[in-house]
Amino acid sequence: MTERPTSPPEPQPVSGIVTRSAIFLVATVRDDEAAHARVRAWCADAAAYVRSVGKRVPSGNLSCVVGISDNAWDRLFGDPRPAELHPFREFGSGKRHAPATPGDLLLHIRAEQMDLCFDLATLMLGKLGDAVSVVDEVHGFRYFDMRSMVGFVDGTENPEGDEALEFTVMGDEDPEFAGGSYVLVQKYLHDMTGWNALPVEAQERIIGRTKLSDVELDEGVKPSWSHSALTTLEEDGKEIKILRDNMPFGRPGSAEFGTYFIGYARSPAPIEQMLENMFVGRPPGNYDRLLDFSNAVTGGLFFVPSAPLLEALAEREAPVAAAGSAAIKTLIDATSTATPVVDATVSSLTSPSVAPAEGSLQIGSLKGVSQA
Ligand code: HEM
Repeated sequence: MTERPTSPPEPQPVSGIVTRSAIFLVATVRDDEAAHARVRAWCADAAAYVRSVGKRVPSGNLSCVVGISDNAWDRLFGDPRPAELHPFREFGSGKRHAPATPGDLLLHIRAEQMDLCFDLATLMLGKLGDAVSVVDEVHGFRYFDMRSMVGFVDGTENPEGDEALEFTVMGDEDPEFAGGSYVLVQKYLHDMTGWNALPVEAQERIIGRTKLSDVELDEGVKPSWSHSALTTLEEDGKEIKILRDNMPFGRPGSAEFGTYFIGYARSPAPIEQMLENMFVGRPPGNYDRLLDFSNAVTGGLFFVPSAPLLEALAEREAPVAAAGSAAIKTLIDATSTATPVVDATVSSLTSPSVAPAEGSLQIGSLKGVSQA
């Protein structure tokens, strides 16, 4: 019997990074074996590309996280597959809609300086060549003191350190994919004219925090439809968090003002529950008023393999179910490292063992909130 690793393999650089610049690239992979082979080979070299560009400016903190969609996983790697990887689930009600848009690969490139992000994006896309077509590219910038496009500090309630790893990096719940994460992205465009016409107090009730000082509104004052209320999840008395690294972007000359939302977690379930709360409402109808001024125009869900698994995926041939499973298990066992220790204490919100039933995400106390 092969022993399972006692601690998960090293994650990709998902957590602990706050930089001033980022590039988000979403690409589709051409559907033929030559393209698949090229992308598989690229997976093995992705970390080396980051080293090549990043070493030139060590203080630039360059990193890249690679995510793979449900559809791409099957075509490129076959079985075994991450238990909770599925197509982006659309949410909506009335005018509010979170659409699913095409995308097989996500590259989340971060650095202190945009030139580093730009150079790495250029190198990586050059190596992928015509095996991929970029369907969305967003260059994000840090806006003063971590302000979102709507002027409020963004990221305050993010988990940090060990807590961030606990909420984002998978442990034993899907052993073949330990060290991995899920990432959900959405591109939002804002009606800044409408937003700026609101008094600051009204904006603060919508976000649930004060604008200048970034302090949470008191319980009696904070509306149940505020962004912060609807994105706060609890299960069995414990708060379930996700890790966000949203970035503002835009082109004032074209009246484009946006937020690129990116959320990491060890299961898609909590992020999807937040989306449902925002778009449909908790209870239905009690929706996030930020959406009266924000329109989601893209949506994608991706699996982020651990660093050694991303490299090892290159060894996969055309997807073959059983043989692939054994091979990948051996590779995970061989490449597992001692960092970091993640204990699988996060409850069923992060457990992939139960597939969501129709109409409910089946997550503890949040069960039964229906999906639109
Ligand atoms: C329109 C795009 C969005 C903007 C401008 C935005 C902005 C903000 C701001 C300003 C905060 C308060 C500070 C903080 O704790 O970070 C916040 C909190 C939060 N947001 Fe968003 N957000 C957006 C979309 C989303 C989406 C799509 C999700 C999840 C699916 C989400 C999840 C959260 C969570 C979990 C918190 C922390 C809540 C708390 O613990 O108080 N956000 N967001």
